[in-house]
Amino acid sequence: MHRLFTLFAALLMACATYADGGMWWLQLMEQQHLADSLRAAGLRMNNDELLRLRDCVGQFGGGCTAEVISHDGLIMTNNHCGYSFVHAMSTLEQNYLKDGYFAKSREEEIQVPRLTFSFVVDIEEVTEEVKAEAKRQEADAYTMQSRRFLRSIAEKMQRKTELKAMGGVSAEIVSFYGGNRFYAIYTQTFRDVRLVVNPPLNVAQFGGDGDNWVWPRHNPDFAIFRVYATSEGKPADYSQTNVPLHRDRCLPISLKGYEEGDFSMIMGFPGSTSRYLSASQLKHEMENVYRPIVLAGEPQLEWERDQMELSDSMRLAMQDDHMGLQNTVKNFGGALKAVERTRLVDERRAADEALTRYGREKGDKELASVVQKLDELYATSADTLFDFMLYYRTLGTDEERRLPGELLDAYYEALRKGDINLRAQVGDTLLKYFEASISGFDRGQNASRMAVLLPIWADNCRLESSKNLLIANFEGIMYQSIFRSKDTLKEFLRKPTIERWVEDPIWVQHISEKTTIREKYLPCYMRVGRQEAELSRTYQRGLMEMNGWSTPPDANFTQRLTYGHVKAYSPRDAVHYDYRTFLGGMFEKESKTDPDYAVNPRVRELYDARQFGTYANKEGRMQTDFLTDNDITGGNSGSPVLNARGEIIGVAFDGNIESLSSDFKYDPQMQRCINADIRYVLWTLDTFGGSSYILPELDLRR
Ligand code: ARG
Repeated sequence: MHRLFTLFAALLMACATYADGGMWWLQLMEQQHLADSLRAAGLRMNNDELLRLRDCVGQFGGGCTAEVISHDGLIMTNNHCGYSFVHAMSTLEQNYLKDGYFAKSREEEIQVPRLTFSFVVDIEEVTEEVKAEAKRQEADAYTMQSRRFLRSIAEKMQRKTELKAMGGVSAEIVSFYGGNRFYAIYTQTFRDVRLVVNPPLNVAQFGGDGDNWVWPRHNPDFAIFRVYATSEGKPADYSQTNVPLHRDRCLPISLKGYEEGDFSMIMGFPGSTSRYLSASQLKHEMENVYRPIVLAGEPQLEWERDQMELSDSMRLAMQDDHMGLQNTVKNFGGALKAVERTRLVDERRAADEALTRYGREKGDKELASVVQKLDELYATSADTLFDFMLYYRTLGTDEERRLPGELLDAYYEALRKGDINLRAQVGDTLLKYFEASISGFDRGQNASRMAVLLPIWADNCRLESSKNLLIANFEGIMYQSIFRSKDTLKEFLRKPTIERWVEDPIWVQHISEKTTIREKYLPCYMRVGRQEAELSRTYQRGLMEMNGWSTPPDANFTQRLTYGHVKAYSPRDAVHYDYRTFLGGMFEKESKTDPDYAVNPRVRELYDARQFGTYANKEGRMQTDFLTDNDITGGNSGSPVLNARGEIIGVAFDGNIESLSSDFKYDPQMQRCINADIRYVLWTLDTFGGSSYILPELDLRR
């Protein structure tokens, strides 16, 4: 009896840990018995109610998630999702990014150029159609997953004409399970999206890069926008005559809070995961993609920091790209460590072996040999792929190299043939290109950046041919090249000689890169890409056949649901992290010297006076951020965190550094999602910022 009980308990626990995690694709909800697991985990909505949530969650700015929180088109996302757009609208005089923005009425909601918001309006599986077309065109796995191929099929799909009447609807075909399944996704995109609330940077991003990817956190990383449409509710370009978009459904907001262990779910648009890689694929991804990006990224970031110190205008010019690179480099560096610590490559090796055995037992030759073929593919290309990536992050970023190689080749040909007409013609184009390319960059700044990046290339590239790749002598380019100025180029073009041309540093560099990069590395990269597509498709098919297609497909910017619980964690021996933070923690982190940890004076004032509006918890304390074990990744940023009744309790904005291997494997012990408490969000926009006019629109539940 006792034995039976422990067995039962162990089984239950295995189910429980398995259940949390996974970015589920709701089209497979029935097939994968998702509703049962959700209810077992604590969901208290029926299937219809659950599926209706999909209409309230859309894609923001092409790469993030936002949710509808009022019937009049208010949407909430992360501050870091609106960042680039708000950055582009900001000037030193009117800095909506640094100083924040709080509209006080609808009239004060401001146009955000180029920002879009899309709803999914329909989805259908089109696997058979895609396969049939691929067969007709004899397309391989690589081609049939290419944008061009899938777009050509999507264009032919005239079936959904009634959707077109909605306006702004487009269809896209997306590959799932590594090219084993395909779905057509119809989205409606709105183009007039206005800024309503954006907290100042020292509030929204308190803790900056130091706190990024790290728990405990104290920032409310959110922003609020409003979608506008024509009076018929159709998408349109910005116009004064547009009106707030009416939506029948919006998400309610709970002010009741949550406890550790409570059910939580997140709906959003995760961008990319790779949970079905073979050992050699994973190793390749780590060593030849992540590592060179970190190697080149760290010194580049240091250089950028120095540049940004020079002036406020330099900071404003660079801070958007800088934050993006910081985020990637910290992410990839953390992933390298986490994959190593969890010995994920060894674990994948065991999965490889099981798959090979399964293939043999089934007499499936393709499957039985796929692991070996993948191993061989990377064994013969690793160094080239490493150098190719490093090149793109170092030498290849040199802005002196922006003249198209084909143009340089064409001019050389004209010189060689002595064709005077052709020479004049190509010379004209060359001059035009040169003028356009030098107008946008500062040569001194470029040279100072290359002085940092070139040694990284020289010290780390692996192949002899890379080492021999001539490293441009900047003195040469700046003082001797005919391309050193518009005038020197003009002068050369008036009386050109082939002797002068072939010894020019720009030409010498071009030839050397052409023979190594373009003629050697690029073809290798293309060959590996093509073969990998074919092998991956087989590999994933095998894994899914083995588990009965019971696990979710890798993230691909389509709408997913992940469920789990509010949960603390222990990052390492003897250390335990609580599942929530309080505003007081911000002052513990405060620094007088590090601007990333400077406390906003108004936050201090309100805190000192304990002015928490109606947003404090039961004990009268202001809760700031909290943890759940939901399974998210980049693209999910801005997603709503919902309780068992589908009410918003927070907004998801980050992950924890200890689990950055999560794109390759979900780890229930370690993986956490970092969320801003919705009460902290409301306090910031209302008590702190004064955008109180939007409160009556919200469905607040106390
Ligand atoms: N780590 C977050 C993500 O990738 C972005 C956080 C942005 N904040 C920052 N300080 N860089 O979604």
